[in-house]
Amino acid sequence: MTGNSEGRVVLVTGASSGFGRETAALLAERGWRVYGTSRRPSGCEESRFDLLELDVTSERSVTDCVGELLEREGRVDALVNNAGVVMGGALEETSDDEALALLQVNLLGPARVARAVLPAMRSAGRGRIVNVGSLASMVGLPFQAWYSASKAGLALFSEGLRQEVRAQGVWVSLVEPGDFATEISDHRLSVDKRLDVYAAARERAVAVMAADERSGPAPVVVARMVARALSDRRPRHCYRVGREVPWLTAAMALLPARFTEAAVRRLYRVDG
Ligand SMILES: NC(=O)c1ccc[n+]([C@@H]2O[C@H](COP(=O)([O-])OP(=O)(O)OC[C@H]3O[C@@H](n4cnc5c(N)ncnc54)[C@H](OP(=O)(O)O)[C@@H]3O)[C@@H](O)[C@H]2O)c1
Repeated sequence: MTGNSEGRVVLVTGASSGFGRETAALLAERGWRVYGTSRRPSGCEESRFDLLELDVTSERSVTDCVGELLEREGRVDALVNNAGVVMGGALEETSDDEALALLQVNLLGPARVARAVLPAMRSAGRGRIVNVGSLASMVGLPFQAWYSASKAGLALFSEGLRQEVRAQGVWVSLVEPGDFATEISDHRLSVDKRLDVYAAARERAVAVMAADERSGPAPVVVARMVARALSDRRPRHCYRVGREVPWLTAAMALLPARFTEAAVRRLYRVDG
């Protein structure tokens, strides 16, 4: 998908706040016909793009949302799988159900929406899918191990899917942001169980994460990167974006893993 985006149809999941809202608005400004989504579209005041109801954890909701889009437009040129959540807790504090709730949104959700749009993209012989991952896929974050796992899973999922569908004219890219100032910390999923042994380290780590997110750059930077992934003549497999990219990429390439892990533990004040 190259050149003029005028009139092209894009579905952006999770467009009620953060990256999704900025991305949907930017793409609309650039001439795309944009359908953003929210689980509660009636609660959103949005005039820059259309909003459809979507809960990515529900197959029925995904089918209905994509069905409505195709009924209105008859085509879908691009999908931005952006909806996602974070969760803060130690493994021992997190139940299987809580972990599955996170994976449902961050990993199975993007797969479900991709599966729903692929038939239309295949019959058109072209399409773009951009999955919004995270730099947390590069290093396992303490007290966000399930989040890191969901985003590392999404990275490999994107790679596998790309190879399945490129012969059909569909290209899959991954955009991996660092910390940005969105509402994600306010939407953090909670875990019920709390163990005293982890309390101090967890509170310090989660406080650093929330502060880094709140003081991060504006989400429009990520919106521009998503727009680039959608319009690059030769799209990359992965676009990393954020203040952390230079040092993290260098550390991963040059340092033994134990040094990088020690830096992560220091950063999140895990050891005090
Ligand atoms: N902010 C960061 O620093 C950062 C860094 C790296 C990666 N990311 C990733 O970027 C993506 C967007 O995050 P954000 O920071 O923009 O967070 P955000 O401001 O909290 O926005 C999250 C969006 O996801 C939607 N959502 C949540 N659960 C959903 C579900 N079950 N079904 C459908 N939509 C759902 C929300 O919509 P409704 O509640 O209206 O349904 C909301 O629009 C996520 O995948 C996140 O993991 C964020």
